[in-house]
Amino acid sequence: MRLILLGAPGAGKGTQSDMLMKLFKIPTISTGNIFRENIAGNTPLGQQAKTYMDEGQLVPDELVIELVKDRISKDDCKEGMILDGFPRTIPQAEALDTMLDELNMPIDFALNVDVADDIIVERMSGRTVCASCGASYHKVYKLEKVAGNCDDCEQPLIQRDDDKVETVKKRLDVYHTQTKPLINYYEKQGKLVYVDGVGEVEEVSNRVKKALRVE
Ligand code: AP5
Repeated sequence: MRLILLGAPGAGKGTQSDMLMKLFKIPTISTGNIFRENIAGNTPLGQQAKTYMDEGQLVPDELVIELVKDRISKDDCKEGMILDGFPRTIPQAEALDTMLDELNMPIDFALNVDVADDIIVERMSGRTVCASCGASYHKVYKLEKVAGNCDDCEQPLIQRDDDKVETVKKRLDVYHTQTKPLINYYEKQGKLVYVDGVGEVEEVSNRVKKALRVE
């Protein structure tokens, strides 16, 4: 399975990709997580990305495209992969098409997880994430088993810097102008599948599996 997860920030892409990764036993490539790891490690890439991310802006295409090109050519992507948060602009989508053509690895589906902006703002304010593996939780909708610690790697949960309400609103604006056009892009390619992302996490997961024809 080669899958792109589309959807606004906070729509639940990371939450659903955790489920899909276990189901298909394939890696998730989250460009946001890669940037956050680089920020934590204070690498040159992390320093560049941080200035954009803190403002709720997209990191420039050239930085993201090179990173993804390198990552998807690794052996663990041969059997499939989930792209979470990439592509996010039309130039990124075009670059991805070229990369996948060269590797002879066509995308099966682009899954759009649809959630209204007002629900997203509420979700982000309650989100916590694992400082180590990036797994995402929610103070109301998805509680961790041991308070304050990740279920998978037991590391502390933190609040993301870009989850402040004003930054979330900025990210939503950026989504509507730069990323939403990808829905049409993949619809024209006949790859688009749509899922209503509102409801209990498990309910949304069931819709996702149905849309991907694995149930
Ligand atoms: P990134 O890390 O990709 O963030 P995002 O797309 O903004 O998505 P999020 O991780 O915020 O949300 P999500 O959809 O994964 O939702 P989640 O499952 O956590 O990108 C961050 C930044 O990096 C960007 O702003 C940009 O600067 C840069 N960047 C990354 N990729 C880039 C690219 N390709 N090009 C340029 N720049 C790039 O869920 C959210 C919350 O809701 C959680 O608390 C969760 O528990 C909860 N939740 C999930 N599902 C449900 C449900 N059904 N009901 C109730 N709550 C739910």
